[in-house]
Amino acid sequence: MTQDDPYLIGRSRQETERLNRQHQFYHKTIGYLLHPSITSHLATVPNPRIADVATGTGIFLREVAKSLPPTAQFDGFDISPDQFPAPETVPKNMRFHVVNAKQPFPAEFIGKFHVVHLRLLVCAMCSVEDWTTVARNVIALLKPGGAIQWTEGHFRAMLPVLRSSPVPAGTSALDTFMGLWINAPEMKDKMPLDISKAFGCLLRVFKELGLKSVMRDVVPSDRLGEWGRKEGTEVELALFGSGMSREEEKLLKGMGLGDEEVQLWKEVYPKAVQEKEEGAYVMFPIHVTFGFKPSR
Ligand SMILES: C[S@@+](CC[C@H](N)C(=O)[O-])C[C@H]1O[C@@H](n2cnc3c(N)ncnc32)[C@H](O)[C@@H]1O
Repeated sequence: MTQDDPYLIGRSRQETERLNRQHQFYHKTIGYLLHPSITSHLATVPNPRIADVATGTGIFLREVAKSLPPTAQFDGFDISPDQFPAPETVPKNMRFHVVNAKQPFPAEFIGKFHVVHLRLLVCAMCSVEDWTTVARNVIALLKPGGAIQWTEGHFRAMLPVLRSSPVPAGTSALDTFMGLWINAPEMKDKMPLDISKAFGCLLRVFKELGLKSVMRDVVPSDRLGEWGRKEGTEVELALFGSGMSREEEKLLKGMGLGDEEVQLWKEVYPKAVQEKEEGAYVMFPIHVTFGFKPSR
């Protein structure tokens, strides 16, 4: 984490695997990669060009490419190249670029894209101004008529424990575990109680920036029943790997947790995993906000 890159999550090989697994969870739970209204728009374009901003491992582009013609072009942007796929593993029509989305994009990309996609930037955002700035910068990438889709997990609204037998108040390890990171000092500005100060501003901001047909889909993370409950919970728990390593301890301290909280964290992690095995899970709403740049 630096001032230019206040992203709190690591970029290890384990985290790369977690992001790829998380992609499948979001895709299946939401029910689409791109909203049907965006897919219909793309179907009218002979050589679509798609941008994925904060692309991470590029998994979204690699998956969406499967349903688009070989004449399509794909560009992934991220502030760090650490999780980009090896060049020899990606198709020729896919390129990756190091770009800070909080800064205006290079001129060569402005107005070039039919679709811009973003997902899960929350851990890199520090204020409502950050959301507005990134929205402005990425909307500038769109051609007239182009569409943007931005997905975020509403972790502040996470309901930590739902299980078959009731748990006495204050005794759930999963609840304690999730509460520790969501309420960590460094997370407060990233996930404020009032989400209109975070990704909740996107409906308003998209409209203010001139987009049309602005809409939001809200999907509960447990929509698919047992599979989704377990998978969503495992993907969140896996953010912290084994719950024990030095790397994870660094992550927790980076979130502003003190020694005692880190110690508590280590104690509750295995119990949280056990509770999950017994049917406890976390539920959070997933927000998908999208809109279209007016045609000329
Ligand atoms: C949780 S990952 C999500 C990756 C991908 N969107 C996905 O859903 O699989 C967040 C990504 O945002 C990137 N990121 C953080 N700050 C950024 C910034 N200012 N500009 C561009 N990318 C950024 C991180 O490097 C990381 O790859």
